[in-house]
Parts: sequence; C-alpha cells; structure tokens
Amino acid sequence: IKISDKKNKVVLIGMPGSGKTTLGKLLSKRLNYNFLDMDEYIEEIANKSIKKIFDDDGEKVFRNLETKACKDIVDRKKLVISSGGGVIKKSINIEILKKDCIVVFVDRPIENIINQLSLDEINSRPLLKGKKDTIYSLYEKRYELYKSACDIQVKNDKSLSNTINEIVNLLG
Ligand code: S3P
Repeated sequence: IKISDKKNKVVLIGMPGSGKTTLGKLLSKRLNYNFLDMDEYIEEIANKSIKKIFDDDGEKVFRNLETKACKDIVDRKKLVISSGGGVIKKSINIEILKKDCIVVFVDRPIENIINQLSLDEINSRPLLKGKKDTIYSLYEKRYELYKSACDIQVKNDKSLSNTINEIVNLLG
C-alpha cells in the first residue's frame, strides 16, 4: 500500500489504551502531517465531553457523531487520525475510513493495556467504567473486527520509536 494511493491520510484504530493517540501524534510529526484526535473533534462539535455525551444522550448519539466525524474528515489531506476504540462498531465508519485512509490497527497485547490503564482512566471511559473484566470482553468482541478493518496491523509491544518505525516502513 502506498500512502499516496489513499489521499495522504492514516487512521489508527484499536482498543482503548492501545496507544493510538500517543503513536498518532508521533507519526504525524514524522510524516509532517497534521494530527486529529477523533474523540476531541467529537467533543468540539458536541460541545461536551465524551462522558457527558454518553451520560446525557447515550451511546447511539455518540456513535452517530462518530460517523459524522468520519464523514467530515473525508476532504482533509495530510492527516493522521487517532480514532475512538469503538469506531469499528458501525460498518459505515469502516467503509468511509477504508475508502479514504490507510487504516492501521494498533495491536497492543491486552495484558499491557490492563497494566497501563489506571483505574481513573478506566472510569473516565464510559464503556469501561467499573471493572477491568469489561476490557477483556471488549477485546474479545472486537479483535477480529479490528483485524478485518485494517490495511496494516502493528503490534505495539515494543518501544514507541520502534513501533513508529515499523508503521513508517509498512506505509511504504
Ligand atoms: C470508546 C473508546 C473511547 C471513546 C468512547 C468509546 C469505545 O476512545 O471513543 O469512550 O467504544 O471503545 P479511546 O479508544 O480513545 O479510549
């Protein structure tokens, strides 16, 4: 896959806590692209936090905003996007992103995710709130979806710079 074939855009998908935002920022610097965090974009258009969107309006409204965000970025170029972990729940989102971007699955071992996410971080993520078990079940439900939605799969089980190098090499 050549990056130019897909309009100079890369989107990172993967579980909450897999490193999408950290890697996305570094990757955008490396490629000299802009960076967009989809959750932050949604918070801007909704004018409230993700947590408040879930609390006030429910997951369905959030997922629709996520689809709007996918559509809104279609015309933008030279962009690295970090998506929310559930973006793969709607097939329309995958269709839009796949057509328009190189989709990179940041595949971080579940043990690493759990060890790194603090309870505070878990509780601030509406779908994870409460128990660590939830992450396991989300992981099991979603792993194949991430795999089949992506163009490139990268194991994030090494240093950040090694993972970035691997992504850059795979982008061609
Ligand atoms: C979600 C992940 C979150 C955020 C929302 C829903 C999910 O993003 O979009 O809380 O369904 O996995 P992160 O992957 O950045 O935590």
